[in-house]
Amino acid sequence: MNRKLGNSDIEISAIGLGAWQFSEATSFHKFFWNGIDPETTEKIIDVSLKGGINWIDTAEIYGNGRSERGVSRALQSLKIDYPAVRIATKWNPLFRRAKSIVKTFPKRVENLSPYPITLHQVHNPASFSKPETEMEEMFKLLDDKKIEAVGVSNFNTKQMVRAFERLEELGYPMVSNQVKYSILDRRVDKELVDRAKELGVTIIAYSPLEQGLASGRFHENPSSLDSIPFIRKRVLKRKFEKSTELINEMSSIANNHGVTTSQVALNWLINYNGDTVVVIPGATKPTHAQLNAGAMNFKLSKEELSLLDDLSRQFI
Ligand SMILES: NC(=O)c1ccc[n+]([C@@H]2O[C@H](COP(=O)([O-])OP(=O)(O)OC[C@H]3O[C@@H](n4cnc5c(N)ncnc54)[C@H](OP(=O)(O)O)[C@@H]3O)[C@@H](O)[C@H]2O)c1
Repeated sequence: MNRKLGNSDIEISAIGLGAWQFSEATSFHKFFWNGIDPETTEKIIDVSLKGGINWIDTAEIYGNGRSERGVSRALQSLKIDYPAVRIATKWNPLFRRAKSIVKTFPKRVENLSPYPITLHQVHNPASFSKPETEMEEMFKLLDDKKIEAVGVSNFNTKQMVRAFERLEELGYPMVSNQVKYSILDRRVDKELVDRAKELGVTIIAYSPLEQGLASGRFHENPSSLDSIPFIRKRVLKRKFEKSTELINEMSSIANNHGVTTSQVALNWLINYNGDTVVVIPGATKPTHAQLNAGAMNFKLSKEELSLLDDLSRQFI
């Protein structure tokens, strides 16, 4: 199940693989994810690609380049060539000006080599520069054919439109906005997603499984919440009770389709908004990666999409 990346000719699978988990549990990442060894990383990537996923989302800040290097290492070991896989990465804007987009780019290339960077994104709107200036720097990379497309992440509607319009003036589409979006967190509905639809900007939904909560596995076994890293546990506990009715309905729909609750959560996201939304679930286990890719292989009915919409409106 492929989708166009914004108003570009690039085709990506509706489900990509998130690579934050490959940060090797360094600095603040360890409060979310335990470390993953290179063999498991390779297996996760292998089953994802075999399941029809054709792109991986990483970032400069994920382990300060460790995730980028881990992805490239695993792909080389699996002997996968571009364009069988495409890479999206992100510039870290914290305490920086837009000029650092071009300045830090050689490091992105070194970490990901020999894989070209398809999509380069501004990780969040926290830099000292305006969205317009950031797009002017990204334009230099586009125009030099060093990247294929430009996106942003965590931009609100206004910031997204400003970035889109500046890049459009320079002759290129701004193809995506990567934002937190799941059936248990719909704060970007409706304004941002609707505006993205109008502009032809792809919404890349991050944390689409609400860091595992939307899979129903913690509802099945609540004590397992205690075994996950600290910050993630605190966040998930907040939504645990409120989501019980929705999770029960998702689980019953899953049974009818012979799939899992996690697959219903992903399938709802990639189909509820037509072609606008793609998702990037992360995985620390090959079995999860395989299930996540498999969420592209069935279709929820119109009635099921709207029933889940009704039950999850409390999270808008
Ligand atoms: N742009 C941004 O600011 C930003 C922020 C956050 C994330 N992201 C991107 O989005 C990606 C995904 O986000 P995320 O990792 O925060 O959240 P997520 O994809 O919602 O959750 C991933 C976690 O959910 C569990 N899981 C995955 N598949 C499962 C399945 N089939 N069944 C049951 N549990 C499953 C695993 O937990 P266990 O490890 O406990 O098994 C996995 O580590 C990241 O890798 C990153 O690329 C971007």
